[in-house]
Amino acid sequence: MCGIIGYVGKKDCLKVLINGLEKLEYRGYDSAGVAYIKNKKIEIIKEEGKIVNLKKKINFKIDSNLGIGHTRWATHGKPNYVNSHPHRVGKITIVHNGIIENYLELKKELIKNGYSFKSDTDTEVACALLDYIYKETHSIEQTLAIFKDKAEGAYAIGLICDDNLDYLYAVKKDSPLIIALGKEENYIASDVPAILEYTNKYITLEDGEFAKISNDKVIVFDKDAEIVKKEIKVYDGKSGDLNKNGFEHYMLKEIYEEVEVVKQVTNDYIKDGIKSLTSNMPKLGNYERIDIVACGSAYHAGLVGKSLIEGYANIPVNVELASEYRYKKLFLNKNVLVILISQSGETADTLAALKIAKEKGAHTLGIINVVGSSIARYSDDVLYTKAGAEIAVATTKAYTAQITMLGLLALNLAYKNKEMTEKEVLEALDEAKKLPTNIQSVLNEADFYKTIARKIFKHNDVFFIGRLTDYALALEGSLKLKEIAYVNSQGYAAGELKHGTISLIEKNTPVFGIVTDTNIASKTLSNMKECKSRGANIIALVSNDLKLDKEIYDTLIEVPKVSPIFQGVLTVIPLQLISYEVAKLRKCNIDKPKNLAKSVTVE
Ligand code: F6R
Repeated sequence: MCGIIGYVGKKDCLKVLINGLEKLEYRGYDSAGVAYIKNKKIEIIKEEGKIVNLKKKINFKIDSNLGIGHTRWATHGKPNYVNSHPHRVGKITIVHNGIIENYLELKKELIKNGYSFKSDTDTEVACALLDYIYKETHSIEQTLAIFKDKAEGAYAIGLICDDNLDYLYAVKKDSPLIIALGKEENYIASDVPAILEYTNKYITLEDGEFAKISNDKVIVFDKDAEIVKKEIKVYDGKSGDLNKNGFEHYMLKEIYEEVEVVKQVTNDYIKDGIKSLTSNMPKLGNYERIDIVACGSAYHAGLVGKSLIEGYANIPVNVELASEYRYKKLFLNKNVLVILISQSGETADTLAALKIAKEKGAHTLGIINVVGSSIARYSDDVLYTKAGAEIAVATTKAYTAQITMLGLLALNLAYKNKEMTEKEVLEALDEAKKLPTNIQSVLNEADFYKTIARKIFKHNDVFFIGRLTDYALALEGSLKLKEIAYVNSQGYAAGELKHGTISLIEKNTPVFGIVTDTNIASKTLSNMKECKSRGANIIALVSNDLKLDKEIYDTLIEVPKVSPIFQGVLTVIPLQLISYEVAKLRKCNIDKPKNLAKSVTVE
């Protein structure tokens, strides 16, 4: 949420900044801007809308060796020119990601001290506060140390000061920021992929730390303003993830990558029988309960995880939205395992939930995609989903990786709790081995899914129904359609529809009935019939072991039947592809849907 880039070195600064912002645009695309040094003076260019608009205003021949850039996802004030970053007050120019929660209080104080404000943003207030402190201290290091005590909330800030034009400064709390290290050049960025084409070496700033950065030196100060030695990390992701590789959209490319992603996720746990499963998973205790906490699609993955862990390992599981969990009464102790699921590893609510769970003494396990991200670092144990960089704002391959990992975790816990025999676990792991081939066979039906999209794309109400795991998948299918195709859709527990919502079913209303659980298939099929009798256009999405009466459906999508542990991995793919095709027919901005941003680092 909001992307920050900064550069100091001998390259063409403006090219580096714009290139970095283009890589970060998935984090926000309301407006963008850069500040750079030209002839010993700071100049600012910003523009409403996407980075292409900003690019048109930039003269790339300008010689500059230091600058900061920002792509915005609006929190305070409309996405317009005045509110866009960088902001400049007095001698200080900044870009900011996060929310300064006490900005109104600070603003009042600063107005009393003679400051006036042009924008509606908390960032301009932060900038004025920094300028105010700097006027007293004449030292940016001291200014940042004092600023941290005065500003409440979350922030990652890149800063340049008129009096120190050879340096970039950075400070962070609860919002991600890295410092990337090149040869006689250094960078700051919201994440590593933004600078991966230049270097893969980086330092992660921890909460409360700040840094002074020139082309040949990086000095990091800890939260007590003492110089601290930082570990240099090497990013092992592929920069190939950052190209569309011939696909029309990142989302489509990422759906097709699911074959490889599932191989990556399962590989370590299947190569050597039961031993690889048990020895490559963290050593977990005997828990009386598991809480799975996440947001959005990761929460839907958690619901799949609940069905699997309860069903196979016989441990009670609560699945909670992180934004609720962090404020509710929690019954936590060391006998509860709290699992945090997050692609980015930076989602503000999930991170806050993790901190609370740790404070209350629960054991925490992150299921995370981005290596070294905040949630991965703070969790007691981590399982990495290894899906690679996901650029499309709507998640697909990372979600698939999450539910695959939850299946493996359920197997591990089931074996540990003696709820499954070695033979049963090995049979399930054999199915995991066949998943990539099965995923490919689902992807091979892409043209058929297109025909379904053509039939439904003009409808503004679409329903997805299912029970248990199929209900969790229904929620995910519905979210995909809402977020990328702007179709009002509902994911519903199949049995619940007739308690009110069925009144919305009209002639031709598309209803996806998801049925892969043989034990309760007949129940969901009855619910589909109830919709059909009210005129619905039924699209049945079923595992191919079920033989359906033709009267139940209008269109039939079949996916290969596999162990229930991994069935969701196959079943979700037609839903992802149909949403993609509907969004395309509705001419939506598929990779960057309106109002959204990837990596939600504000509450
Ligand atoms: C939907 C989507 C979001 C994320 C949610 C959590 O397609 O991508 O709902 O799943 O914002 O994000 P992470 O997984 O990064 O914590």
